[in-house]
Amino acid sequence: MIKLVAVAGSLRQDSFNRKALQNALSFVEGEDIEIQKLDLETLDLPVFNEDLETKVPESVRELQRTIAKADLILIATPEYNRSVPGGLKNAIDWVSRTGSVPLTDKVVVLLGASTGGFGTVRAQIHLRQILMALGAFIIPQPEIHISYAAEAFNEDGSLKDEALKEKLKSLIQAGVNLVRKLRA
Ligand code: FNR
Repeated sequence: MIKLVAVAGSLRQDSFNRKALQNALSFVEGEDIEIQKLDLETLDLPVFNEDLETKVPESVRELQRTIAKADLILIATPEYNRSVPGGLKNAIDWVSRTGSVPLTDKVVVLLGASTGGFGTVRAQIHLRQILMALGAFIIPQPEIHISYAAEAFNEDGSLKDEALKEKLKSLIQAGVNLVRKLRA
């Protein structure tokens, strides 16, 4: 059984990144994979403050435990001001501050959706850099940049672009395959 933790970098309920995440997850449903969705909105993490490290809030502990148990982490990130949204960076900063960094040696799959024409290219470059600093194994290819996200999804939440769907399927499969190879 592979434990997959899926997180959208947006806290917004109607987030395109939540939809993108759901599309990716639909390709691994039914496999030997346990899926847990991590919702940054309901987690309600405080803004990171080193002073809080002596009395770490339960929400942070829950996040750290969830990441520590995961075999595979799937992140769909928006792009805010050409970078990673503060809420997602805040969550990663909290995760990075435990005795053993739970992201080290974790397989991470990245994708992103934005309403602009670059489809989170810049945010994903920054996110890769951040995750590499923490020792994660980030699947290099294919890269999934969902641009003009307001027009990219059908009513039922599925992606309109069939070629992009195929790319997304091979991305998530690459993550699952790497977890299996690391275990073997
Ligand atoms: C944005 N947006 C945006 N889009 C983009 O392609 N490049 C960018 O640099 C930015 N910058 C940015 C800053 C801030 C503060 C906001 C709120 C938005 C637009 C963004 O892509 C759009 O709001 C997406 O819909 C956000 O993703 P979710 O919430 O739909 O997942």
